[in-house]
Amino acid sequence: LNITFLLKTETVNIDKYTIKDIPSSSGRLDVISRCILSSLIDNDKFNMNVQIWIFFNTYGTFIFNTKNLIYSEFPKNELLLSDYIVKLIKVKENKNQLDENPLKFVEVKKLSMIDYLIELKINKKLIFVLREEGKDFFEVMKNNLIQNEIYFILGNQSEDFINSREFLKLNIPTISLGFKSYLASSVIRLIKFNLKTLLD
Ligand SMILES: C[S@@+](CC[C@H](N)C(=O)[O-])C[C@H]1O[C@@H](n2cnc3c(N)ncnc32)[C@H](O)[C@@H]1O
Repeated sequence: LNITFLLKTETVNIDKYTIKDIPSSSGRLDVISRCILSSLIDNDKFNMNVQIWIFFNTYGTFIFNTKNLIYSEFPKNELLLSDYIVKLIKVKENKNQLDENPLKFVEVKKLSMIDYLIELKINKKLIFVLREEGKDFFEVMKNNLIQNEIYFILGNQSEDFINSREFLKLNIPTISLGFKSYLASSVIRLIKFNLKTLLD
């Protein structure tokens, strides 16, 4: 089973970025980094069947796919990862600086989340949006484990995008892990853990 997490951020802005205070100087890039680490790494190794796509407002869409990355070089904590993401964003114009960056195999696309979701729907992919209210995760997943590909959309703190009219028009089914509100990175870990339990 291949799983892809999709996450849009409207807040990240690196104009005033400093490694000394990443959360407030970057518009919460630390939250994004935590989600990336939760998606890709488990017990000191990469999950080979997991991807995470980060849709930044102004910097493009970054695709983290473990099949293209090298575990030994990959930054393993949110501080280091955030710093390399900032370097990757800044390097856009000067590709030579990429050689030093362990994220050099992260694919960067110009593709909006809404356009990508439309593309996935046209291709009849299985997509769910995660919310505190929705159908029970286990019930829905039990009936979908024969699929070889599932896409999960996570909201951010403001949830502006998943509540927007253009998103709601897509009628993507909602699933829930219960009424308690978790951090997005915890939701990612819970999804991976629960799927593993169901598949075992
Ligand atoms: C920090 S939460 C979002 C903010 C939260 N709704 C609030 O009231 O502050 C980040 C995202 O994690 C997902 N999430 C959090 N708790 C969840 C749950 N119990 N079930 C499913 N998804 C959840 C949702 O996609 C949510 O948008």
